[in-house]
Amino acid sequence: MKDKAIGIFDSGLGGLTAVREILEIMPDEDIIYFGDTGRVPYGSKSRDAINKYARQDARFLKKMGVKMIVAACGTVSSVAPDLSDELGLPYTGVVNPTCYTAMQVTKNGRIGVIGTAATINSHSYKKRIREKHPEFEVFEKHCQLFVSFVENGLVDPDDELVQMMVHRYMAELKENDVDTVILGCTHFPLLAEAIQREMGDGVTLIDSGKETAIYTKKILEERGLLRDSGKRGTAQYYVSDTPADFEKFAGLFLKNKPHNNIEHINIEEY
Ligand code: DGL
Repeated sequence: MKDKAIGIFDSGLGGLTAVREILEIMPDEDIIYFGDTGRVPYGSKSRDAINKYARQDARFLKKMGVKMIVAACGTVSSVAPDLSDELGLPYTGVVNPTCYTAMQVTKNGRIGVIGTAATINSHSYKKRIREKHPEFEVFEKHCQLFVSFVENGLVDPDDELVQMMVHRYMAELKENDVDTVILGCTHFPLLAEAIQREMGDGVTLIDSGKETAIYTKKILEERGLLRDSGKRGTAQYYVSDTPADFEKFAGLFLKNKPHNNIEHINIEEY
């Protein structure tokens, strides 16, 4: 079991923020990633559609024989149920680990959450934080447009268009004097530099991909499933649209990490 891969999925490139961190903190692990590039974005879709996509994505990874599944997607984690029982595999989303860190980090108890439309409408992060800390104030803003920018590689913090968009969408959180901002969509860490510049150094950004990777390691450790072969793991990527665009941007994003194995699949078969 230990030697099986970790399965990770997202609607597109966003989950690579979790992959990058997993490769960093668990270099021995094999990774199987599915990016549903043919159906991105998830965040503007109905609850029924998101539920269906989440199940298909997870079933595909299960069929690939993984030992654990990570829904590296704020939208799926907010809208779809926990699929661990259904799958018979350890499973995690991004909401709980991300909220946990944000609650530790905030000093003034004023936390901003940005995510997709579906995530913000579900109030998943806010509910989780208020459950533990009813005294904290949570300010939510949906930034669905950020997903399109990221999917098109528009993330340069010096790009005027990126700056304008970030300035406009972050204004409310700035006015509300938050000291912590949850990047509640895994696509958003790709815009972290632009968001940090806009919010200023006094604000801590919490990266949902990174926090989820750390939590994934904890689960594997607890269950005795962590690999310790001392051999570098491999990464295999699957997408539901043409691999070319994904390859270009995934390559840039993951830098020297293995990213040359990208295959197309028909997700409707799962
Ligand atoms: N990366 C995803 C998330 O974390 C989905 C973005 C989208 O497809 O709208 O919410």
